[in-house]
Amino acid sequence: MSLMADPPGTDRLSVRVRRNTVGAHDAAQRSGFLDSLAAGQLPWEAYADLTAQHWFIYEALESAATTMADDPVVATFLFPELRRLPSLEADLQFLYGPRWADHLFALPATTTYCTRLRDVAHRAATGFVAHQYTRYIGDLSGGQYLGPAIARSYGLPATDGHRFFIFAGVDPMSFKNHYRVLLDSVPWSRPEQDEFIAEVTEAYRLNIGVLSELQSRWSQGAQK
Ligand code: HEM
Repeated sequence: MSLMADPPGTDRLSVRVRRNTVGAHDAAQRSGFLDSLAAGQLPWEAYADLTAQHWFIYEALESAATTMADDPVVATFLFPELRRLPSLEADLQFLYGPRWADHLFALPATTTYCTRLRDVAHRAATGFVAHQYTRYIGDLSGGQYLGPAIARSYGLPATDGHRFFIFAGVDPMSFKNHYRVLLDSVPWSRPEQDEFIAEVTEAYRLNIGVLSELQSRWSQGAQK
């Protein structure tokens, strides 16, 4: 073994994807909007707007799970317990009231994200898993800190208005460990693995696009 060899395990897909997207994750974290919400520096409508954008994104992502259910790889990545759409609808109902659907407007960056989801996550297992990984593993990581911070800052009750961040019956740490084991056992060729990693990078870029648009919209005092 040469001195320059990587330590054992670094060729695993879960390790490769993390290593290749550290920069993209840092950029997503730096985009500012989520930190501003966590600190309560924006009006509550800005948080409701994020929830509305999530509704479009998770509608496109979770319908891909149905479209792709027969694919043998996707079949091993179906987790009904992760579904966020019902929680998002309950949050929107709490935040906007019974006519919540009248408040749903997709920002241009959200439409771009959903178009990509329909093109990629509804057609190829690499695309589906890339987008699933980026959103849900993120929700089970930084989301577990953001949810309680947002609830505190906006005076939300125990669960109402921020159910999106609460995964009933899912232990984030063990779920993420299980998910990484699954990722490492997918029978993808190296080019398919690379396609997956490239699509995760793209998913980060799309998320940054949505967060940047929300940031400029609400830091300029937008009203709905
Ligand atoms: C304020 C914003 C954010 C914070 C504080 C944050 C924080 C974190 C932390 C602490 C981890 C490591 C968790 C662990 O190793 O178990 C993590 C991982 C992750 N985050 Fe974020 N995050 C933020 C934004 C985002 C965004 C916007 C996305 C994408 C939509 C995202 C997606 C991910 C993913 C996919 C991972 C897992 C990486 C891996 O496989 O290790 N994060 N985040």
